[in-house]
Amino acid sequence: MTYIAPSLLASDFANLQRDIEMINSSEADWFHVDIMDGIFVPNISFGMPVVEAIKRHAKKPLDVHLMIVEPERYIDTFFKLGASVISVHVEACPHLHRIIHYIKSLGIKAGVALNPHSSIDSIRDILPDVDVVNLMSVNPGFGGQKFIPRTLHKISTLKAIIKQEHLATLIEIDGGVSLANYEEIIAAGADVLVAGNCVFGAEDPIMTIREMKFQQNFF
Ligand code: DX5
Ligand code: ZN
Repeated sequence: MTYIAPSLLASDFANLQRDIEMINSSEADWFHVDIMDGIFVPNISFGMPVVEAIKRHAKKPLDVHLMIVEPERYIDTFFKLGASVISVHVEACPHLHRIIHYIKSLGIKAGVALNPHSSIDSIRDILPDVDVVNLMSVNPGFGGQKFIPRTLHKISTLKAIIKQEHLATLIEIDGGVSLANYEEIIAAGADVLVAGNCVFGAEDPIMTIREMKFQQNFF
């Protein structure tokens, strides 16, 4: 079954508690929490006090996606704030092996995120150590962008390696996921769908989540 991780970046920050409770009551699996520093990506999202507020209301695991330089400086912070998954970008980590093992030593899931230009080969030697690979299907920094079709090929390439090596690594797809493309993304081998605008911009977010999770049109 596909995991659905609504991205709170697309929620109404003036009604954050309302939107979190809506996701709590849905069949979504994780809260996707996008942290942007204005350096690694050309945008700043929100910081620790907001994550602390999210954690106070969230009844599902927090999937923290760090789009920041030197993420090793903030792993302890996000762990203490209650993250269940922490993903760092391969492009931001010269010592990816060390940071992945550090995250895992905290007893939570370690993820590695790849920008659209980064090849699967760049994580080939660390694949058995990571719990989640986040394949970015847009250039990170903003919600509401268009899905980059080449990602489908990356998903199937990665899925084949995971199967061949009998790994339990989850493939997460982040950016531009919608009701128009989720089926082919899942068919290519995705395990976790991040969905921002597609969920929070929907007329019926609960049903949108249900459709993507169970791949059936309930409308
Ligand atoms: C993009 C973020 C995504 C974003 C997805 O930099 O990492 O998680 O919130 O938003 P949508 O689903 O609207 O493309
Ligand atoms: Zn993200």
